[in-house]
Amino acid sequence: MSPARLVHERREDRGTWWTRTVGTPPSVYGERWIERGSGLLRSWDPSRSKLAAALEAGWTGALPDEGERWLYLGASTGTTASHVADLVGDAGALFAVERSPRAFRRLLGWADRWPNVLPILADARTPVAYAQLVPRVDGIYTDIAQPDQVDIALDNARRRLRDGGAFLIALKTASMGRDASAPVHLERAFASLERYFDLDEPLRLSRWHRGHYLIGGRTRPGRWALGPALTGPPGRPERPRSSPRPHRATGDPDRRSDRESGRSGPRPGRHGTRAGDRPAAGRAGSKPSTLPEG
Ligand SMILES: C[S@@+](CC[C@H](N)C(=O)[O-])C[C@H]1O[C@@H](n2cnc3c(N)ncnc32)[C@H](O)[C@@H]1O
Repeated sequence: MSPARLVHERREDRGTWWTRTVGTPPSVYGERWIERGSGLLRSWDPSRSKLAAALEAGWTGALPDEGERWLYLGASTGTTASHVADLVGDAGALFAVERSPRAFRRLLGWADRWPNVLPILADARTPVAYAQLVPRVDGIYTDIAQPDQVDIALDNARRRLRDGGAFLIALKTASMGRDASAPVHLERAFASLERYFDLDEPLRLSRWHRGHYLIGGRTRPGRWALGPALTGPPGRPERPRSSPRPHRATGDPDRRSDRESGRSGPRPGRHGTRAGDRPAAGRAGSKPSTLPEG
């Protein structure tokens, strides 16, 4: 089912993707804003955003939806993150992790106009650094173009993703080493992830984003007894009550880790932030067909 805040308009032979925004102008990256009914829509360009490219390519798998909490790894300046924030709406929340201070500054430039975004300056390889800020989430989106991107995404998912939650990764095979071809990297990534997730058929995004694939699915029932966050009681997701503010995480990471695994369950962060420094539309469980680079 299509997310409630996603709009697709088709005129003649062209379609346009829009998100119903919770933000206020000006635009984040030059996207168009139009009034529609009592709200505002922002155009979502497949050539600027891998998630929009996946939609254009026919993705019908898991997507951020209204009222959900999502963790976003590699938010950069916020092109896609701003649309994910629109999709979850003001009843949801987006925890946007970015490691580069320069990109983060630009993320901050618009995030205070979105009441549901918590920007976190942190390395996604160290999820314990922002453990206190991020509650258990309904979905994780990863776009970090690192050799170990799959491991990073999995580690975060183990700690923060709820049972039945959604997992999406914009896989950049060119970042995964020259020892293997793109299809082999895709195959390996898929194999690692399908141990834990019921995956949809991966989508090749090369028409818009060279060497990228979208892999996604939902946690496998009965196979998700993984990380420390999952040992606590499920609890009802809490939402930030006010506009989150950027934040700096302090304290002993190990103690945070203990707390994270504690029985009281994770607490939501209310702040924006600096935290510690340091796998297409298809059938569940299906194998990726060998998708050549486009
Ligand atoms: C391809 S860009 C992301 C583009 C963005 N997702 C979008 O669609 O608008 C990758 C980003 O991941 C960030 N990144 C790379 N490694 C990271 C890590 N270990 N932790 C957090 N961010 C990381 C980079 O700084 C860069 O901004």
